[in-house]
Amino acid sequence: MKLIDGKKISSEIKEEIAQEVHELLAKGGKKPHLAAILVGNDGGSETYVAHKVKACEQVGFDSTLIRFPDSVSEHELIEKIKEVNQNADIDGLIVQLPIPEHISEEKVIECIDPKKDVDGFHPANVGRMVAGMPAFVSATPNGILELLSRYQIETSGKHCVVIGRSNIVGRPMSILLSQKRTTGNATVTVCHSRTENLKEISKQADIVIAALGKPEFLTADMVKEGAVIIDVGTTRVKSDKTKSGWKLKGDVKFDEVAEKASYITPVPGGVGPMTIVSLLKNTLLAAQKKV
Ligand code: GUN
Repeated sequence: MKLIDGKKISSEIKEEIAQEVHELLAKGGKKPHLAAILVGNDGGSETYVAHKVKACEQVGFDSTLIRFPDSVSEHELIEKIKEVNQNADIDGLIVQLPIPEHISEEKVIECIDPKKDVDGFHPANVGRMVAGMPAFVSATPNGILELLSRYQIETSGKHCVVIGRSNIVGRPMSILLSQKRTTGNATVTVCHSRTENLKEISKQADIVIAALGKPEFLTADMVKEGAVIIDVGTTRVKSDKTKSGWKLKGDVKFDEVAEKASYITPVPGGVGPMTIVSLLKNTLLAAQKKV
């Protein structure tokens, strides 16, 4: 079994991005600038946004964190998004999800300028991605493609089973892997909460992408010998062994699945750091007006 080291690969990519920023500045350009909107103080979202802001610093981007309390109205949030859309100094904008239930996620996403939508959530970007046109692609699936590519894991002709059909991960992942592209050309099956005989299907997979958000869902009896296992899960579970009182658990029962896998991503240190560098890459593309 080989461990797929997302932390190492993400550090290498950050160095590449920092180099591109140098070149951009040397040519008289400005620093790429990412704005992140965070509503409320959910612990997970706080951590993710803090990581994103820190990563911007590491590669030489500017970043702006805009915070609102849980009680913010939909109108107020949308007005802020429109203001950022108009701000020529800001290249990319993300609204960290989830947002409170009284605010429509759809309306918020549709309000982001597609040219600044570095999360790739706007229907214009989703549509362009599906059509194989230049688009901002959702960060987690893009990060997974980058990992598969850098570890030279063949996807062409392989059977990939994606477990989970979310707009952020499962759905775009399944489309990207099936497309005629590098790190694509796979035969893809999407499984979800209503799938019957999931185990029979996952056992046929050459590559499993577990993105359903259920800690330790994928067990050794559900995978075939030599499969490649990508774990997207990041659920916080209580732990008396850590200072914070919780630890991150993936969707894969790591120890037993690792014994059968040819490659496997750990949690933390697998897909998570790649999501952040994919966001940085999209922000760089936005600054360079390449999408
Ligand atoms: N919540 C969970 N993942 C993401 C992500 O990739 N982007 C945003 N904006 N919110 C998220």
